[in-house]
Amino acid sequence: MARKPHPIIKELEIEKIASEGKALGYYNDKVVFVAGTAPGDIIDVRVHKKKKSFLEGSAIKFHKKSDLRIEPFCSHYGVCGGCKWQHLSYEDQLGFKSEQVKDSLERIAKVDLPEIKPILGSKNTTFYRNKMEYTFSNNRWLTTEEIESGKEFESDALGFHIPKRFDKIVQIEKCYLQADPSNAIRNSVDRFAKDNKITYFNLIKQVGFLRNLIIRTSTTGQTMVILQVAEENEEWLSMMLNHIKENFPELTSLLYILNQKGNETFHDLDVQVFYGKDHIIEEMEGLQFKIGPKSFYQTNSDQAYELYKVARNFADLKGDEIVYDLYTGTGTIANFIAKSAKKVIGVEYVPEAIEDAKVNSQLNKIENTDFFAGDMKDVFNDEFLAQHGKADVIITDPPRAGMHPDVIKTLLNISANKIVYVSCNPATQARDLALLDEKYKVTSVQPVDMFPQTHHVENVVLLELK
Ligand SMILES: C[S@@+](CC[C@H](N)C(=O)[O-])C[C@H]1O[C@@H](n2cnc3c(N)ncnc32)[C@H](O)[C@@H]1O
Repeated sequence: MARKPHPIIKELEIEKIASEGKALGYYNDKVVFVAGTAPGDIIDVRVHKKKKSFLEGSAIKFHKKSDLRIEPFCSHYGVCGGCKWQHLSYEDQLGFKSEQVKDSLERIAKVDLPEIKPILGSKNTTFYRNKMEYTFSNNRWLTTEEIESGKEFESDALGFHIPKRFDKIVQIEKCYLQADPSNAIRNSVDRFAKDNKITYFNLIKQVGFLRNLIIRTSTTGQTMVILQVAEENEEWLSMMLNHIKENFPELTSLLYILNQKGNETFHDLDVQVFYGKDHIIEEMEGLQFKIGPKSFYQTNSDQAYELYKVARNFADLKGDEIVYDLYTGTGTIANFIAKSAKKVIGVEYVPEAIEDAKVNSQLNKIENTDFFAGDMKDVFNDEFLAQHGKADVIITDPPRAGMHPDVIKTLLNISANKIVYVSCNPATQARDLALLDEKYKVTSVQPVDMFPQTHHVENVVLLELK
């Protein structure tokens, strides 16, 4: 039976950008999400998803282009799935991010709010990331233009996954997210592999040698490269690693991993050092942070500093407080504020991150921190607090899902004077603020942009006991 063609909506006007950065218009009272559009666009939309409350589609014809549109600067825009907001100026991106925060707090939290402070933009709007991860595939994604050009293309590719197509990789020539030597390393590795017929991974059949390339840089100028391979082949491994080492003498750390699992994660695998150190060092306000291949560190280092300063200002520590840093990761916030507090206790469920947090305290001769691994809802309870001291200030930086209701219950129970809530998802933050409203009032709100060219926004809220 022939498939029904996708319905087409004619001349839909895009009216706004809602949560998660989705641009939308209305058709017969239904919301229609259309990726890659901007308020003011008038378009024909091919609908490919129909739900009870919304439709989703793609623009197939522009009748009018929004005045907000600018020319995207990257040749991979619209294909790689990365910088989805390049068609908007940075000023407009910041405006939409602020609106996202305001809208979530007003619509979901429904609590009394102070005036939201102007969003802190990122000094660098390109080349701001300190970590990039590229995938090898022998199944290159070809764009419509590439297919129509009639040219021949190699089927091996090194680049990014196509959204919703895990097996297809778009070949990246230049990425604007990480400063050099990032592009130079990726392109050189790709050329050398192709010239020497070293095989690229097939993501469906799970065969092929080269699997994944990670590049981590730091503001101290140190650079780490991690190569993941999927087969034991000493000759290819040594050829490739020597090629990287000889061509990029500025590298301080060259590591490799044999990964024969079904996915690219390597938290449970051994990492081998081929050359240099097993870590790089990041610095912030004179503090050093040791970053191993498995360690988490905020990906926009400069803006992480701005974010942490906001958290520290909101905490307004006098030096005699016991502070809990919940969801501490590798303890960066805890170590950052330690000198302004009597004691800081960090909790996080990844044990390796907790080990990193302890190492970072030692490295900086910080003696008033303590770190514990475990699920927050199990660890952070009355007994734990009785053991480590009554909380004067709590800093919390949960994952996108926000805090577990049990954690919120504990927070309400212990009634610390202040809670500084750092969030990467204003919607779940707003939900949590509504629950905390029983005892806390929101006294400051500071959105911070860590990820230019994307819809993501970070928001810091200060809560004080009513
Ligand atoms: C947004 S990150 C915070 C990172 C850290 N504050 C920083 O700036 O580097 C959230 C952290 O929460 C941890 N996490 C997620 N769910 C958790 C849970 N249920 N219990 C404890 N930690 C959790 C994650 O492993 C992650 O490190």
